[in-house]
Amino acid sequence: MSSIENFQQQISTALANRNFPDSPANLYDPIRYILSLGGKRIRPLLTLLAADLFGMKVLDTAIPAALSIEYFHNFSLIHDDIMDNAPLRRGKATVHEKWNPSVAILSGDALLVQAYMELAKCPPAHVAALLTVFNQVAKDVCDGQQLDMDYETRTDVTLTDYIEMIRLKTSVLLGGALQLGAILANASLEQQQLIYEFGVDIGIAFQLQDDILDVYGDPKTFGKQVGGDIISNKKTYLFLSLQNLAVAEDAVLLQELVKGDLSSHPQKVQQVMDLYGRYAIKERAEVEKQHYTKAAFASLEKINIPKEQKQALEAIANQLLIREI
Ligand code: IPE
Ligand code: IPE
Ligand code: MG
Ligand code: MG
Ligand code: MG
Repeated sequence: MSSIENFQQQISTALANRNFPDSPANLYDPIRYILSLGGKRIRPLLTLLAADLFGMKVLDTAIPAALSIEYFHNFSLIHDDIMDNAPLRRGKATVHEKWNPSVAILSGDALLVQAYMELAKCPPAHVAALLTVFNQVAKDVCDGQQLDMDYETRTDVTLTDYIEMIRLKTSVLLGGALQLGAILANASLEQQQLIYEFGVDIGIAFQLQDDILDVYGDPKTFGKQVGGDIISNKKTYLFLSLQNLAVAEDAVLLQELVKGDLSSHPQKVQQVMDLYGRYAIKERAEVEKQHYTKAAFASLEKINIPKEQKQALEAIANQLLIREI
């Protein structure tokens, strides 16, 4: 078994061994439900890989921190799906659709608390440092999520604004997941910073890929509603690039599509996709993704550890960028 598979196994075993109360069922069933749908569980894997990279021997000790990150991520997805009006998550109904928004709000909150309960199980000598990173990440994610929502109705969003928004809503959580592992392994602040930056740049590439998949993902495997970002006027890299490049009647059409609701533009997703095709927008997003991947690998290289020991992190980073789900 490779170290990656071994860590993945440890994470799923630990998740399966955590029990939530039976009652109130409408609080804990949605938590069991979202966790049972799996997902890639990339963030807890990053925590374990970072702890391993910096030489932590007893990786069991890193499990609560890894789970706290996965719980936080799942909490953010339950609330994100309400905010994005999303019908599907991991190929199944979203929590607010299967139950209702009130249930989704509170079960999300309870899962966030659960994340803190896991963090509290970490070695006491590290808890303060872990909490500082975790709290900064949690606050950044909220900032990013609000910007994402605000941008839906704003018309002056730039590509620079977009990158900063996704750094906050998505990337810092990948960076933070890695930093928690580094803290537990007693890495220096400088090394913690480098692994955090690696994660942030990978995270930006990861969200760019997410935005590409939102348009071009295979509905049979993607697990989320394809076209959701276009429907809700998300200011993604794809959309903003098109807005910058569209000329004459294309620019007018794009403006109209964004202004009207779906009933006035039933073909909206297809029409925006046609424009994306005309201006080779997907290819531009791919180039941007490569740029951040390169930046990430530059940070990884600076980490003061033999290159062979970085192979697992490199492999994961590469896998994430070509992911289809
Ligand atoms: C989804 O994250 C939210 C984003 C930041 C794009 P993942 O793609 O990691 O979702 P799961 O956990 O694998 O389902
Ligand atoms: C993910 O953004 C950010 C958070 C969940 C915090 P998206 O809204 O693009 O994520 P998906 O596509 O719904 O997974
Ligand atoms: Mg969403
Ligand atoms: Mg969202
Ligand atoms: Mg998305």
